[in-house]
Order: sequence, then C-alpha cells, then structure tokens
Amino acid sequence: MGRKRLERLRGDAHRLLAGNWRQGSLADGTPYGFTCPSPPRYRHQWYWDSCFHAIVWRHFDPPRAREELRTLLRGGRLDGFIPHTIFWHDSAGWRRAPFYATHSVRGNRATAHIQTPLLALAWELVAAASDDDPGFAAEGLDALRLHYDWLARHRDPDGDGLISIIHPDESGLDDSPKYDAVFGWMTHYRPGYFWLVERSRRLRYDSHAIIARYDEHVEDVLVNVVYALSLHALARLSGDGAYRQRAEHTERALLEHCWDEDRGLFWDLAGRGHSPQRISTWSSLAPLALPSLPERIGRRLIEEHLIDPRRYRAPFAIPSVSMEEPSFRAGWHLFRCWRGPSWINTVWLLAPALRRFGYGAEADRILASCVELVERHGFREYYNPLNGEGLAARHFGWSTLLIDLLPAGAAEDPGPAGAPQAPPSGAAGKSRSYRGSVGRELWSMGAEAASETRRRLRLRRRRQAVNDIGHQCSSAQPRWNMASGRPWPKTIQ
Ligand code: GLC
Repeated sequence: MGRKRLERLRGDAHRLLAGNWRQGSLADGTPYGFTCPSPPRYRHQWYWDSCFHAIVWRHFDPPRAREELRTLLRGGRLDGFIPHTIFWHDSAGWRRAPFYATHSVRGNRATAHIQTPLLALAWELVAAASDDDPGFAAEGLDALRLHYDWLARHRDPDGDGLISIIHPDESGLDDSPKYDAVFGWMTHYRPGYFWLVERSRRLRYDSHAIIARYDEHVEDVLVNVVYALSLHALARLSGDGAYRQRAEHTERALLEHCWDEDRGLFWDLAGRGHSPQRISTWSSLAPLALPSLPERIGRRLIEEHLIDPRRYRAPFAIPSVSMEEPSFRAGWHLFRCWRGPSWINTVWLLAPALRRFGYGAEADRILASCVELVERHGFREYYNPLNGEGLAARHFGWSTLLIDLLPAGAAEDPGPAGAPQAPPSGAAGKSRSYRGSVGRELWSMGAEAASETRRRLRLRRRRQAVNDIGHQCSSAQPRWNMASGRPWPKTIQ
C-alpha cells in the first residue's frame, strides 16, 4: 500500500477520533476524557469500544490513549466492577433508558452489567507506547487486579475457568444469532429484552443468584478468549504468575469444554446444563487469537472455516456469521446487528492469527478489502461482506482499528482539519449536555432507516429493470447478438 494512501487513512482515523473525543468533569470534579463510538447514536463511553479507541489513539497521541483508559477505570466501582456503558455527560436518553441494564430506569451514571473484558490487554499495549509516561504501566495495576478478581468471583461461580455473561450484549455481540435459542423471547432485539433487564434489576444484578436460578446465561467463547488474553497481559504487567495460571486455566477450559472435534469449531455453553450452542459465528473462531492454541486446531479453524468461501471467505473482511448459517444476513437491520455483516474489530482479532499460522496472503487479502471498504464508505459501524456496502453508524470509532493492522510509518500529523486538541464545540472543558437529545437520536435513526429504504428501493428498481428486460426478451422474437451468440434485449433491438 502506497505511503500516500496510508497517510490519508491515518489522517482520517485521527480526525475521526478527535471529533468523537469528549471531555469534561462531573459536578464533584471527577474529570473524564473518552472517545464516544459514534455521535449522536452512541454518545456515551462503552467499555470495549474505549479499549479499541485507546489502542488506536496510542499511534497518534499516547496521552489521549491513557486518558481514555483512566476514564474507564474511573467509571468503575471500588470492588472492581467496571460497567459496560458509562453516561458521563448525562443519564441515558428516554428511549434507551428502559433497555439499558441499569439499576433503575432513571438517574444512573452507568449500567450494572459488563462488556468483553479487554482492559488489561489495552492497558499493556498503551503502556508499551508510553515512553513519555513510564509510570503508566504500574499505575493501573491495583485497579486492574481488582477488576479481573471481580470477574472471577462474580462471573465464574462454578470455578471452571470460564466466565459467564447474563445478558447477550455483555459480549458486545448483542444480536448474534448464537443467543437466539438461549435468550429466546428475551434476546436483545426482541421486546422481551426489557423483561430480562427488569429481572436482573430485581435481583440487583447478583450474577450468582441469576446463574443458579435461570438458564439464560452463557459461557461465551469470545468473552473468554479476551478474558484469557487480558489475564496474560495482567501477568506480564504485574509479574504475578497467578494471573498466568488463571489465563491457562481458561484456555484449557475452552479446549476441554467448548471445542467440538467433529465440527471443528468452538461453541458457547448455555445455562445450568452447559449446553453447547451450535451456531457458527466469528466467536467460534476467536480462539485463533490465543497464542497457546494447538496448531492442529488452529489450522482446522482456518482451513475448514475462515478461508472456506462457503463459510467465512467473503469478498469483504470477515462476516460475523458463517455464510452457510440459515440466520446469516449480509445487510442492515435497524435493531439487529452481528447477524452477518463484517466488523473491523473481528479482523483486528483474527488477521494476526492468520499470519501466525502462515496464511499471510489471506491476511493481506482481508486487509486490502478493509482498506477498500473504508476508502469507499468511510469508517462505518459495519459493512456488507458480499458487496462491501458501508452500513449503520458513520464515523464509528473502533473501525479505525484498521490503522493498528497496517504498517506504521506514515506521517503523524493529521493535518489542520484534524487537530486533535480541538474536540467538537461544547465538548471540551465542560460537561456536554445532551438534554433534548431525543430529537437527535430520532433523527439519526430516521436517517439510517431512510437511507436503507432508498437503497432497497434502488435495488428493487434495478431488479425490476433486469426482469423487464428478461421478460421482453422471452416474449418477443429475439434478434441475435452475433458477437455473443445471445439475443439482444428488446429495448436495444
Ligand atoms: C453496538 C455493538 C457493541 C458496541 C456498541 C457501541 O451495540 O454491538 O458491541 O459496544 O454498539 O459501539
């Protein structure tokens, strides 16, 4: 890839992160600074999004990367719990509030549930880019220890090394079809999700009680892969071998309990009976990111799935669901994501593994397709893996992870328009008020829906035109195109 293209991409990514940066302080003086995933729709701080953002920020502005992660820790509790979403500037909007997993419908500063625990790994990567602040690595250790101890204590009641999620969106893969059977009418995109949240509220999010009493919980493969990677990072940061042993315990448990030798995939385990959920989603391939994965298993995941054109080898990036699954949908749905479209964080986790196993050419092909996606459509939330269309939110923060996968070396300066010290008006210094954001949110959803409707109408018209031509050809005496040996369509006879 040419230096100019690379520089342009890096500049765009830097500008995007700078534009989504929010900073300020709470009434009690607590400062915050983070990148919101995509305003106005995603305007709060999300746990794993912030980790991804910090990983990219470290290429442009390490102090911002550190501030993003410090803010995430600041949003946590003293017992080590760190929320899935933190509402720094304001509480959740009216439309979403009932569906946020908070303790009560109004007035919460954060949700009471978790998200895929990537923090220690992100911390290590940012610390490695922090020559200007060598104390950063040690600064977070106590809080990180508390966090990963909290996860083990609260989310692994059976002590098998695999932590559980009690809501589908705790993995970050909200609407993935792998949760359809487990959560049924209460799954993320169905109205019953409200009841799931309400049930957790009534039990005060006591995961031991929820896991003992109900079957709607999952030992999730992706969550546990990231958990193991982070425990390894914490062991390296702290020099404490106990975290390495815990990481190895989780890795063994993934192999012993989740690996299916016949299908060559890893399955989530659901409910008190640990029943395997046999739906092939990219999470089934996530153990590829574990350096300890036995080579034989890695090769099977790659050859039988990741590079199989019937399953995951799509023209653009890596689909979130195997193209062979009946639930696979390549396109956009207003309330459903992770049911087929390609996301850049998937590539971030899997492409390095492809290289490690010797499939560098495949990794290059996937990366080239991602560059094309971003150059054509910008940093979108996700993309259609079949035709490369950019879908859902625009200026989506973690799609800039692409920068972390491309060779470094381009200029660091994003140019005048991207001056990173210029957060959008009103965001700097003071807490930005989102009161009255109802209109914006509706506008953004409406705009998404309208653009999708226009796209579908366009497609339908195009299909109709093709059909008409076909019909005219078959209903008339065709004149033959001598060059191709096929009849000319009537319209051009
Ligand atoms: C969507 C994604 C989730 C992400 C959030 C904010 O809900 O499914 O993973 O954290 O948006 O970007």
